[in-house]
Amino acid sequence: MEFSTQTTASLHQLKTAALAVGVYADGVLSPAAELIDRASNGALQSVIKTEFRARLGATLVLRALPGVTAQRVVLVGLGKQAEYSTRAHASAEQAFANYCAGAQLAEGVSTLAALPIEHSTIRDRARAAAIAAGQATYYYDATVGKTERDARPKLKKITQIVDRAETAQAQLGLREGTAISNGMELTRTLGNLPGNICTPTYLGETARKLARNYKTLIKAEVLDRKQVEALGMGSFLSVARGSDEPLRFIVLRYNGKTATAKKAKDNGPIVLVGKGITFDAGGISLKPAATMDEMKYDMCGAASVMGTFRALAELAPALDVVGLIPACENLPSGKANKPGDVVTSMSGQTIEILNTDAEGRLVLCDALTYAERFKPSAVIDIATLTGACVVALGSVNSGLFSTDDTLAEALLAAGRQTQDTAWRMPLEDAYQDQLKSNFADIANIGSPGAGAVTAACFLSRFTKAYPWAHLDIAGTAWRGGKDKGATGRPVPLLMQYLLNQAN
Ligand code: BES
Ligand code: MN
Ligand code: ZN
Repeated sequence: MEFSTQTTASLHQLKTAALAVGVYADGVLSPAAELIDRASNGALQSVIKTEFRARLGATLVLRALPGVTAQRVVLVGLGKQAEYSTRAHASAEQAFANYCAGAQLAEGVSTLAALPIEHSTIRDRARAAAIAAGQATYYYDATVGKTERDARPKLKKITQIVDRAETAQAQLGLREGTAISNGMELTRTLGNLPGNICTPTYLGETARKLARNYKTLIKAEVLDRKQVEALGMGSFLSVARGSDEPLRFIVLRYNGKTATAKKAKDNGPIVLVGKGITFDAGGISLKPAATMDEMKYDMCGAASVMGTFRALAELAPALDVVGLIPACENLPSGKANKPGDVVTSMSGQTIEILNTDAEGRLVLCDALTYAERFKPSAVIDIATLTGACVVALGSVNSGLFSTDDTLAEALLAAGRQTQDTAWRMPLEDAYQDQLKSNFADIANIGSPGAGAVTAACFLSRFTKAYPWAHLDIAGTAWRGGKDKGATGRPVPLLMQYLLNQAN
């Protein structure tokens, strides 16, 4: 997808396959719609009262309007004017991009980002437009046949019409949105790939490929079982042992600060830790068969780290980021963990495994201990960690847990800025009691209640050395049902957070 900005007062003379103009639900035309209405002798006014109610995200296509050069004018519903927000704007851009992609158009022109919204900048709105277009044109075809492949969207370019004074800021937003989209594309495809293809080895190779493609900015190191044993990651190893598929521990390094020689303050890097369970059958605590296929998505945390690294390399902001990915399968076998087993983590703390399906925290805890060596300024782990988080927050917000208010606020703000929102959850000491074990320093599951919180409490035992936050993306990383597929979240949140840190 390609974007450009253009400034024009003669909208009706634009040559394009589709021109998007916004209409508010109260029957109020946006300035662009007003202009087209006048040029076409009231063609818009005549439909908005009857055929088009301008519900948010609704579209109505008008073809061959007299006095208008665009082949199609796409009326995009903006909802009520008083309720128009950054989220509404993102939905409107999404509706237009979806229309263009669905109609197999090659390009379109949008006037939506130019509409002012309180507490938002043209840069934010242009970024949202680019992300929306990237989502509309995403197409998974890695494992589908030729006929399906012909349905791939043709949309290559959307031009945004903005004020001349705002052009430079809009361009910046479009560039950021494109990089975020490209990152999301990688995240979605890794998530959608089946477990028999997207193995820990495959993730390791993807990391190496990132390093090859962005030689000066990204370095990758891929550790195997022997090296992980030498590090003493007894908890991670215990999960990996249940499968014949070899484990990988991936270390990615993005060096933007050194590359741009902008060493203002010598802060430690920001470390992103992604859960990389390429298939989670539950182990001996086997999951039920229904929808078990969705457990191929249990590496979406890892995939969001990879996607964020791709976006980082494309934008090259001045900061240093480390990515850590413990990757393995969680299967039942003669070598798998058994309920009651006690393992020793890299931190030295012993863990009683009461449920082998609570494996995410078992692989993450060793990665969190490994993170200490970077003397990080912040560590953020991203994991499809608990079904309980889906119960609590559904698919709207990712669950955010943090011991550091500044870090938590920065992540929440980045989520709001990119419509990739998170909701802060509690992480009080009172919940830690639920993790008491009679036979080890800690149990890997809590007593009933607050499952997403006790999972975060477990992780917090391994994060004392740095400011830390945990994102539970079990409800947001993919959609189930007929629209089954990875969403690319929370790449926008993570990337926006990192961009905000670099500025
Ligand atoms: N990968 C799952 C979490 C999950 C479940 C994500 C459903 C998305 C949808 C995780 O490894 C898991 O199995 N968690 C258990 C923890 C429990 C045994 C304490 C869960 O949530 O049921
Ligand atoms: Mn599990
Ligand atoms: Zn899992």
